[in-house]
Amino acid sequence: MKLSLATFSSFAFLFISSAFPASLTARAVETCPANALSCSSTAGSPCCSPTYGLLVLAQAWYQGLGPEDSFTMHDLWPESCGAGQVPESGCDNSRQYPNVEYILQRNQTLFNDMVMYWPSFRGPINYNEFWSHVWNKHGNCITTLNPKCFSNPKEYQDVYEFFATALQLHQIYDLYTILSNAGIVPGDSYSLDQFESAIQSATGFMPKVTCKGSTLNEIWLYFNVRNGNEYLPTDRTGNSTCSRTRNINYPVKHG
Ligand SMILES: *[C@@H]1O[C@H](CO)[C@@H](O)[C@H](O)[C@H]1NC(C)=O
Ligand SMILES: *[C@@H]1O[C@H](CO)[C@@H](O)[C@H](O)[C@H]1NC(C)=O
Repeated sequence: MKLSLATFSSFAFLFISSAFPASLTARAVETCPANALSCSSTAGSPCCSPTYGLLVLAQAWYQGLGPEDSFTMHDLWPESCGAGQVPESGCDNSRQYPNVEYILQRNQTLFNDMVMYWPSFRGPINYNEFWSHVWNKHGNCITTLNPKCFSNPKEYQDVYEFFATALQLHQIYDLYTILSNAGIVPGDSYSLDQFESAIQSATGFMPKVTCKGSTLNEIWLYFNVRNGNEYLPTDRTGNSTCSRTRNINYPVKHG
C-alpha cells in the first residue's frame, strides 16, 4: 500500500501500531512522561525514548536494485543527540542473532516485504548476512523495542518490531513519491537544493542527501521518538555530502 502525499502531509506525527495483537504487546506507555521527545530533558526511560536519542532512516537509490519506483531500505540506526557515541558493534550481547533471515521467514508477510524493499545488492544469498548485520549492529540498540518494554513479548518480537517499524517508516516517508510530486524523477539530474527542498517541504524537516561521485546514493531522515512508539521527523544532524554546485544524477534503476 502506498500512501498518497496528501494523506501523509496531514500526519503531524506517525503512530506505529504494534505488529502483534495488542494483548500480546501492551506497552508500559503509561509510565512514560507524556509526549516527551527523545533528546529533550524530560525524555523518559529506555522504553519511552531510545537511549541514544535519535533514529536515522537510511533509504538507498541503487541502480538495478528493488522496484523502479521505490527507494530500498539500507538501515535504521540510533544516533546520539549530542556528542556521545553509539556503540560500534551492537548494544546487547544477549540479543546478537546469526539467523535473522530465518527469524523473519516465520512471518511470510514481513519476509516478503523485506525481499521487496530491503534487498541486498549481493542477492538473496546475502539476505541473512545483511539483515543479521543490521540487527546485530543497530537493531538491538533501539531500547524502545527491547522485549522488556512489552508486557508479554513473543520470541524474537524485538526483531519483528524493528524491521516492521523500519518498513512502515519507509512506506510513509516514501521518498520516490515525495520527489516525483516535486517533479524530480529518475533519468535526469537535479540540484542538491531541489532534492532537499522537496523533502523539506513534504516532511517539514531537512534530510541528509548523500552521493557517490555525482550520483544520488542515499537519503537519510531523522526521527525523535515519544511515548515509546511515535516517530516524529526532525532535522538532520549533519550536512548533505553531495556537491552544491554540480547537479546530482538521479538514474533510472533498470535501464
Ligand atoms: C507479520 O508481519 C506483518 C507485517 O509487519 C504484520 O502486519 C503481521 O501482524 C505479522 N503477523 C504476525 C502473526 O505476527
Ligand atoms: C551545509 O553546507 C552548505 C554549503 O557548504 C552551507 O551553506 C549550509 O549552511 C550547511 N548547512 C548546515 C545545516 O550545516
